[in-house]
Amino acid sequence: MGSISLRGLMSFGDVAAEDDAVLEYFLTTEAVERLRVGDAFVVLGRKGAGKTALVRHFSEGQVGQLSRALNLRGYPWSLHSRRVDSGASPIEAFVSSWRYLIAIEVAAIILEASERPQSQKYLDLKEFFKENYGGPSPQLSDILRPPRLKVSRASIQPSVLGAMLGGIDLERGGGDYRLGLELNALSSTLLKTAIDIAKNEALPSISLHFDELDQGLSTFDEDRRRMLIGLILAARELRRESAAAGYMVNPIVYLRTDLWDDLDFSDKNKITETTAINLDWTSDTLFALVGARTGAKLGDGATWDDIASPGLMRGSQTKWNHIISRTFLRPRDVIKFMNAALSKAKTRSEEPLVFENHDIVNAREEYSAYLKRELDDEILPHWSQWGEALQAFSAISTVTFDKADFEREYSSKRSSKNMVASEDALGLLFRFSVIGYEKRSGYGGSSWVFQYSDPQAGWDAAAIKFKVHPGLKEYAKLSETRQIG
Ligand SMILES: Nc1ncnc2c1ncn2[C@@H]1O[C@H](COP(=O)(O)OP(=O)(O)OP(=O)(O)O)[C@@H](O)[C@H]1O
Ligand SMILES: [Mg+2]
Repeated sequence: MGSISLRGLMSFGDVAAEDDAVLEYFLTTEAVERLRVGDAFVVLGRKGAGKTALVRHFSEGQVGQLSRALNLRGYPWSLHSRRVDSGASPIEAFVSSWRYLIAIEVAAIILEASERPQSQKYLDLKEFFKENYGGPSPQLSDILRPPRLKVSRASIQPSVLGAMLGGIDLERGGGDYRLGLELNALSSTLLKTAIDIAKNEALPSISLHFDELDQGLSTFDEDRRRMLIGLILAARELRRESAAAGYMVNPIVYLRTDLWDDLDFSDKNKITETTAINLDWTSDTLFALVGARTGAKLGDGATWDDIASPGLMRGSQTKWNHIISRTFLRPRDVIKFMNAALSKAKTRSEEPLVFENHDIVNAREEYSAYLKRELDDEILPHWSQWGEALQAFSAISTVTFDKADFEREYSSKRSSKNMVASEDALGLLFRFSVIGYEKRSGYGGSSWVFQYSDPQAGWDAAAIKFKVHPGLKEYAKLSETRQIG
């Protein structure tokens, strides 16, 4: 006690898992176990909820599986969009191309892990890779690139309607319904051959981790939606197919919640209920996440109490609750807030250095600007003029407001390009937890309902009183009560 100081600490970690030493203080959550045993294959979370952290845990940590991270940053979406299966319904037009891509990844992993490179199946599979990709480990972005796939080895030659195929043209004019049939047949033979090798050698199960599906997304158009749906359906098919063959392959799709909410296909509800995981955090689990970081960075046993003075903040609020109430209960929000508070604390010369209330207060400005940027990433693809709603808040200037206030200010800020009417704007803002609404209970009491903390509550179109999320207060320059005069 007393010897622990924040002075020498650079940060509480990077806010993005790709740049964070997250495996040094990874918190094992319920999601980890469900994914490990193959109980789920869709992982949903808002920005900063911990999708990439999970991907890194599985692909870089010791998990007793053959795991591979597939990062879709820079993925050639427009090339992929040309691999349409015209024989399938529009919603399923990309299932066969994803299924092929997954089969190729599985085969590549098994070739790499195999210890019997003399076996006939190994040689046949390897030849397929050599002929089409020049080697056994093609880049993700190259898998669907060849205009024509060649198949020369009899053992992996697919047949469609009784006819053996020597190759498959990927580049075809629209209206050719055979691409899907042929590609599906090829994927099945590749997968079967690879699984035979894996079973023969008793290789561990496989998990694939599709991350960053949202990268480079400026508008969420129909083609991109169909490609995401295609990936999800293909992943599910492949899970089933490999399970039926007695070998576990789990292709896991990590997706931002707002994108999932915008997808529409049959079985979506079923997947949500059974084989999807929501990355949900609570104040307690986030406290444990921060505890793991202080322990790892400041020496074992360093806890929150060692790095924060006990004095309460205004309204008898603890420092921790003050921070948490400004987040959407996401790890990135907490880490960002603490890093901002750390840089404020370091401007003081006390020793040992611990968080004081004013460090927390002073961190809010930088944190609030960060929160706005994160919301931009989430909301802009759905509503590119959402900033006009923020301007309306600023014009109202108080944290709480009435529906009529908003309608007045929003209609005066609203540009002609902005297609979102006032009513819909409130609903969208609620969906992203930018605002909450007042819920009246019997006996004259009331409470604020926010989507992120009360996901079951749903939107109340009849609500008349609203509150802006506290994390946006500084950005939008809001005060608790209306200035007089
Ligand atoms: N289980 C965990 N244990 C420790 N740290 C975690 C855990 N989950 C997330 N984090 C940390 O939280 C921060 C945000 O996580 P991450 O980058 O994985 O979010 P994300 O869901 O991938 O966000 P985005 O949608 O922006 O890509 C990172 O600093 C990450 O290391
Ligand atoms: Mg990520």
